Amino acid sequence: MGAGPRMLVLLVAVAIHAGTVQAQSGDAEAGRVVFGECEGCHEIGAGAKHGIGPQLNGLFGRLAASHETFAYSPAFLRLRDRGLVWDEATLEQLLADPDTLVPGSPMSFDGLPDAVDRRNLVAFLRGIGDGSGIARAGVEQDHGIDPAVLAIRGDAEYGAWLSGECVTCHQADGGDAGIPSIVRWPVDRFVIAMHAYRSGRRDHPVMQMIARRLGDEEIAALAAFFENPGE
Ligand code: HEC
Ligand code: HEC
Repeated sequence: MGAGPRMLVLLVAVAIHAGTVQAQSGDAEAGRVVFGECEGCHEIGAGAKHGIGPQLNGLFGRLAASHETFAYSPAFLRLRDRGLVWDEATLEQLLADPDTLVPGSPMSFDGLPDAVDRRNLVAFLRGIGDGSGIARAGVEQDHGIDPAVLAIRGDAEYGAWLSGECVTCHQADGGDAGIPSIVRWPVDRFVIAMHAYRSGRRDHPVMQMIARRLGDEEIAALAAFFENPGE
């Protein structure tokens, strides 16, 4: 990462803005209906398994084509090599125009022409991924975190050391078996989520307790480590 702190703050601000505006306007219940278009090939929810396409739980924040148990085509593996992570913006691209994002993909699906359908579907996919992303979308817009805190460069090695406790619950490989994946999230989202538990804006008692024991530097270190574990 060559960007200076000011650039970083700007990028973070843009990312947060783009992320929350879309997440907020999507209606996950309506998105569940739109998911009917995907069901023939993808399972989602408790116990979902790979079918013609990979299961779609815990998609948010995960590197594209990263299920080791699914045989992806070269087209999707190229996305992984580029480091593409699924989030509001990249899913929007995939759903709007799959052929442009993934030329040569065997996913025979022409895209969803309606922008409202796409937003709703993305809200639904996100909600499934973390169990309560829908309820949280509004909270994270005015997260009230000092930009200086968001700009802290975490020490990934220290984060690796701290992460031992986290992976007793969260799967280190980014799997999503009931507990959300926290691997390969953009650093800013990770930090915002942890601060939201620490301040009580997110109300999960276990995560609140864990976050309240962590300082700003430690949260930044964990964010840096989980962004790219094992590298
Ligand atoms: C006709 C079958 C089919 C339909 C319909 C379909 N998909 Fe797919 N999808 C696939 C296949 C197959 C892959 C893996 C493609 C590859 O490896 O080239 C895939 C891959 C994906 C991925 C990448 C997953 C990953 O692990 O990186 C996402 C996200 C996705 N599809 C979402 C959707 C959504 C949302 C819909 C509905 C709007 C949809 N797909 C409709 C077959 C389908
Ligand atoms: C005892 C089990 C447990 C431990 C240990 C744990 N977590 Fe969690 N974590 C959870 C659960 C359950 C959730 C989902 C909470 C919710 O719905 O808000 C969660 C949620 C999260 C989220 C938000 C996920 C999302 O999709 O929004 C982050 C980030 C996170 N944890 C990071 C950590 C970190 C970092 C550590 C280690 C310092 C850690 N967790 C330790 C159980 C745990």
